[in-house]
Amino acid sequence: MKNIKAIIFDAYGTLFDVNSAAEKCKDKIGDKWEGFANYWRTTQLEYTWLRSLMKRHKNFWQITEDSLDKSMKAYAIDNSMRNELLDLYKILSPFEEVPEVLKSLKEKNLKLAILSNGTPDLLYELVKGNNLKNIFDDLFSIEEVGVYKPDSKVYDIPTKKYQIQKNEVAFLSANTWDVSGAGNYGYNSIWVNRSENIFDNLDYQPSLQIKNLKELLYNI
Ligand code: LAC
Repeated sequence: MKNIKAIIFDAYGTLFDVNSAAEKCKDKIGDKWEGFANYWRTTQLEYTWLRSLMKRHKNFWQITEDSLDKSMKAYAIDNSMRNELLDLYKILSPFEEVPEVLKSLKEKNLKLAILSNGTPDLLYELVKGNNLKNIFDDLFSIEEVGVYKPDSKVYDIPTKKYQIQKNEVAFLSANTWDVSGAGNYGYNSIWVNRSENIFDNLDYQPSLQIKNLKELLYNI
């Protein structure tokens, strides 16, 4: 990867642990917490894709609530947990190495930004709550274009704002479909493969695969 001018991160699942909300309630939810967390996440993503295809946009927070309601029914979780889970989703924890690596990247002469399905408010609260507010040049939200990833309009947002070429972007995501979407679009797409998953067959192979963000420091 040469001539990189911007490092753009996916937020949910890449910088912030989407399972951390349910995990913090595991004493109340019991052993099924992880199955429930995965079901909630999968349903949430399906709703983003379906709403984009149906052209029935709702913002990511509304989708997070709608998908939670289905998941709580599917996993027979008491409704009294609803507000607690939603409040925790607003302050998801970053993965362990994230703050330190971001601080090191900040010293390089590159744009650092988030490009996420999250609303501007959600993204702002997430970075502020985790003391990462001063790291990023921009928090780009799909709300600017009203359609979810992997629509190319989303990946257009940073290149337009920074007036740079697609191949001058290093885009990082732990979500395989987002890596494929951004890679097919023309970014150098880096897969953060934290748990030895299998990559998708969507006509794109990542420019780079790393286990966690620390490995990025040796490659940029
Ligand atoms: C995001 C989702 C894809 O942050 O995780 O955009």
